[in-house]
Amino acid sequence: MKNLIKIAVLSLLPVLAMASGGGNEGLDPVDINLADKSSLQRGAKTFVNYCLSCHSAAYMRYERMGTDLGINKQLLRENLMLATEKPGDTMTVTMSEDGAKKWFGVVPPDLSLTARSKGPDWIYTYLRSFYWDKSSPTGWNNTLFPNVAMPHVLYRLQGYREAEFEGTAGGIQHFAGYVEKTPGQMSNEEYDAAMRDLTNFMVYLAEPAKLVRYKIGVWVMIFMGVLILLTYATKKEYWRDVH
Ligand code: HEC
Repeated sequence: MKNLIKIAVLSLLPVLAMASGGGNEGLDPVDINLADKSSLQRGAKTFVNYCLSCHSAAYMRYERMGTDLGINKQLLRENLMLATEKPGDTMTVTMSEDGAKKWFGVVPPDLSLTARSKGPDWIYTYLRSFYWDKSSPTGWNNTLFPNVAMPHVLYRLQGYREAEFEGTAGGIQHFAGYVEKTPGQMSNEEYDAAMRDLTNFMVYLAEPAKLVRYKIGVWVMIFMGVLILLTYATKKEYWRDVH
């Protein structure tokens, strides 16, 4: 009996941990909108231009992305298909795994499902947490992902900045803020907006079927609306003689 209680309590622990953790401390919340096609298109463009050289998105085909995001074949070919000629191809990288290991020490992970494993807030915060760090092998570091092997590939857009830390007591340093060194092509607001679009795109990437569900949802709402009007009209018709 005692064991049974123990098992019951233990099996509840993960639930309790999730309920109390929340898990989003230190992350900046991002308000994404999968119904915003132009945001998804801008995100796709950034992704293809800046991320696909190292990361793959092996579950996505260019063709499907074009259809889902409302991008016509010609635009898709000219702007988004930089690594292949065939729209039916998946979004893979040309870099070899051996090369990646040599350059970064790790193989850049496939990003198809990262929005599901890490969550949108994590990705949005990560992409806005890089700073210049002379002691790192790539010259870059990240306050959310310390000693990250990924360089800040968007530094031209965001600009150079360093991070300040304080309180070395006990060897523990606390992040105190960023110091802007050289401005980038984008203002802070523009960069945040671009990262919001990119996060939006990665959420779509992780679950393309969500877009289809949105579409079905809209038709269900329209159907219900028409049904309510018809029901109301019928009711009026029936009760006309009574009043
Ligand atoms: C120059 C190669 C390179 C480019 C370009 C690049 N990354 Fe990375 N990225 C890496 C490497 C290497 C890692 C692994 C970091 C580690 O484990 O320390 C990584 C890790 C990540 C992670 C963490 C994934 C996880 O599950 O831990 C995310 C998210 C990510 N990259 C997003 C992006 C996005 C978005 C872009 C485009 C803006 C991009 N990366 C461009 C090399 C790259």
